[in-house]
Amino acid sequence: MRCGSIVRKQVARKVPLIRQQSPKILWERSLRTQVAIIGSGPAGLLLGQLLDCYGIDNVILERKDREYILGRIRAGVLEQGTVGLLEEAGVAERLHRDGLVHDGVELCFGGSRYRIDMKAATGGKTMVVYGQTEVTRDLMDARLKVGRETIYDAGDVSLHDFGTDQPKVRYVKDGKTREVACDFIAGCDGFRGVSRLSVPTEAIRMFERIYPFGWLGILSDTPPVSPELIYTNHERGFALCSMRSATRSRYYVQCTNDDHVDNWSDDRFWDELRRRLDPKAAAGIVIGPSIEKSIAQLRSFVAEPMRFGRLFLAGDAAHIVPPTGAKGLNLAASDVRYLSHALREFYNERSHAGIDGYSSKALARVWKAERFSWWMTSMLHRFPDTDEFSARIQLAELNYLVSSQAATAAMSEQYVGLPY
Ligand code: APR
Ligand code: PHB
Repeated sequence: MRCGSIVRKQVARKVPLIRQQSPKILWERSLRTQVAIIGSGPAGLLLGQLLDCYGIDNVILERKDREYILGRIRAGVLEQGTVGLLEEAGVAERLHRDGLVHDGVELCFGGSRYRIDMKAATGGKTMVVYGQTEVTRDLMDARLKVGRETIYDAGDVSLHDFGTDQPKVRYVKDGKTREVACDFIAGCDGFRGVSRLSVPTEAIRMFERIYPFGWLGILSDTPPVSPELIYTNHERGFALCSMRSATRSRYYVQCTNDDHVDNWSDDRFWDELRRRLDPKAAAGIVIGPSIEKSIAQLRSFVAEPMRFGRLFLAGDAAHIVPPTGAKGLNLAASDVRYLSHALREFYNERSHAGIDGYSSKALARVWKAERFSWWMTSMLHRFPDTDEFSARIQLAELNYLVSSQAATAAMSEQYVGLPY
């Protein structure tokens, strides 16, 4: 059977369903699978889909339900490599129909706007603007179609024995404790998930920076102000004009960390956004009621390593980037690419090379994206200690970026996505 660009393999080995009773805890049902995936965000779902394509059995355990997950609004800029991976997984049809191909972005500072032609600077690479919610929906639908199991509303998920070759995951559903026995556990449960927290503290190192501001974002059913994204450095703070479609816009303004959405009426938001844009964009903004409004904190975070015996971390469970570089989802996808290939190598060739190399390979790419996201954030935001000197340095950097081919090329190759 075909699965994107992959020929789907038959399941590599039989996966029996074991029924088991224990006198103390009632094990209502015990499953056996090859890979137990924790978390049904983009990382877990994409991993499940690619493993399915390779004929590797997997079960997803998710603590929320499908509608809750699809209600989360997140960024939506896909690197070319991420698009390729979604194609490989056979879930890119709607993306190609509804996604908007972008060749560049605009930078706005000092009252003017400048275009960065990323396609020209990278020898033809482009991005696709397609909401993360839609990526998640496509992956969920594809999983339903192939009939792989997702256990929603799985409570108290706990990880066991991942230092041995017989790991297990337990969870509570309908008041009963259940167990999934597996060969590997993939911790794709986001920044606040249980997987990373299950690792002994002495086995893991964490690196973190919390930024002294947030992003207030709104979604509105109004046409985007410009066909490309506008990233703005302004003395009142950062602003971003983005979109989901030709009729739906996503806008952000930098706010303080202790701010609250209740302080922001739609009118106040539109006024503040217009004040931070160049005159033409400010005059061109079409305003309308917000259909979603939220504040996100900005954080850089990396956990090392990303493998602990038979437990692998992928996506936000292992690292967070501030959204300025649009790298969150793309990094989750590159982890999943490395991990799915490593597991395929393990099952097909009985080789440990891929799984042994997973952590260092993934972290090398993660740190480059961390640096890029930190750099974009530093260049575009107003920090509490941004004095006139640092403001001039930011402007000099932006001027250099738009006037030097080398600087434009360096930014572009990172924004469109470094090679795997
Ligand atoms: N048990 C089961 N599921 C859990 C648990 C738990 N203890 N903790 C968290 N989860 C689930 C969450 O409910 C969520 O659905 O794991 C999923 C993690 O999904 P994401 O947070 O979307 O993380 P990830 O899949 O790595 O996606 C990375 O999404 O969050 C954005 O900025 C991020 O764009 C990036 C991308
Ligand atoms: C978004 O559309 O939500 C978005 C786009 C680009 C970013 C961050 C968020 O850098």
